[in-house]
Amino acid sequence: MKSVVFFDADEKLRDFVARNPVAGHAPVFVAQDINAVPAAAFKPYANAEIISLFTHSDKVANQKLDLLPRLKMINTRSTGFNHIDLAYCRKRGIAVTNVPKYGEITVAEFAFALLLSVMRHVVQARNDMAQNQIRLEKYMGTDLAGKTIGIIGTGSIGRHMIQIAKGFGMSVAAYDPYPDPALKDMYVPSLKKLYRQSDIISLHIPSTPQNRHLIGKQAFAEMKPGVVIINTARGDLIDTQALYQALRAGRVGGAGLDVLENEDFLLNDDIDPNHARCNHECLLDSAMNLKLMQFKNVIVTPHIAFNSVDAIGRIMAISVEDINRFIARKPVNRVA
Ligand code: NAI
Repeated sequence: MKSVVFFDADEKLRDFVARNPVAGHAPVFVAQDINAVPAAAFKPYANAEIISLFTHSDKVANQKLDLLPRLKMINTRSTGFNHIDLAYCRKRGIAVTNVPKYGEITVAEFAFALLLSVMRHVVQARNDMAQNQIRLEKYMGTDLAGKTIGIIGTGSIGRHMIQIAKGFGMSVAAYDPYPDPALKDMYVPSLKKLYRQSDIISLHIPSTPQNRHLIGKQAFAEMKPGVVIINTARGDLIDTQALYQALRAGRVGGAGLDVLENEDFLLNDDIDPNHARCNHECLLDSAMNLKLMQFKNVIVTPHIAFNSVDAIGRIMAISVEDINRFIARKPVNRVA
């Protein structure tokens, strides 16, 4: 029987595939990511025609894919696919599919979880309680109702942010170079205007060379004093050093950050000192990230906005369905 190899496979995925099988293929589950499996251990997978992976900060090594000569399809259980060398796959005639949508509401809800936690000092109050050091005056928060939230980027996630914000009785100042006509009353004509009006600013744009450090010294100077920044998008949208200075100066009143610049160095235990990206800049960012966490009005989480039972369920369902569609020669969600 042909096989499908699921890398980065956990118990949930095993259970799901047991209940929702791949047609005509035996599932093989590998707990490690494909790069972590030594070449010598690839023999059992050599006949695999389909593999499924999770997202990685490192590129999937083509040398590992070379060890799978019959490979016809790679499914990545993520929206992003820049960890896969599409040119290599096209050359070998390997189809690549992703999961374009699964968690817009999930991320938006988490952005509000961060926002409420910052505004109402939830983490500090919880920690003080555990240490029996309660000081009520420290936890005086700020309502969301009546405040203006600046939404940068009104794509899938930004749109849900607006909906939730309306539910809280907030005003919205949105900005997107490609405005959604359905939201036309929400927009301000420029980022400058958004900065000037917003009590809270939440980022929902992709990381691109143009967007790198969009929020830097200049932007902070144009914002309302005491503004709260929420970032569930990508770390490099914010100039970490400028954020640190703005927090120190009290210009920024608080921040909820699910993503950090060069976050790999904080999220992974195996730090390779010879890593190509382990340069002066990213070491400085890493040090700054640690310093950010020392502010009581900053809440940092380890890139988990997507991570709900519901969203992961949708990822698994879409992935297995896409694999079955590929087998039935009716592929969807192909990026190569
Ligand atoms: P999307 O592609 O649906 O929307 C992005 C929007 O940003 C587009 O409307 C685009 O026109 C706009 N945009 C781009 N540059 C802009 C700029 N400089 N100013 C204003 N608007 C700009 O993207 P989606 O699905 O809403 O995702 C947003 C971000 O959330 C992405 O960075 C994504 O990587 C991140 N994300 C984070 C997750 C997490 O677990 N923390 C999970 C899923 C997504």
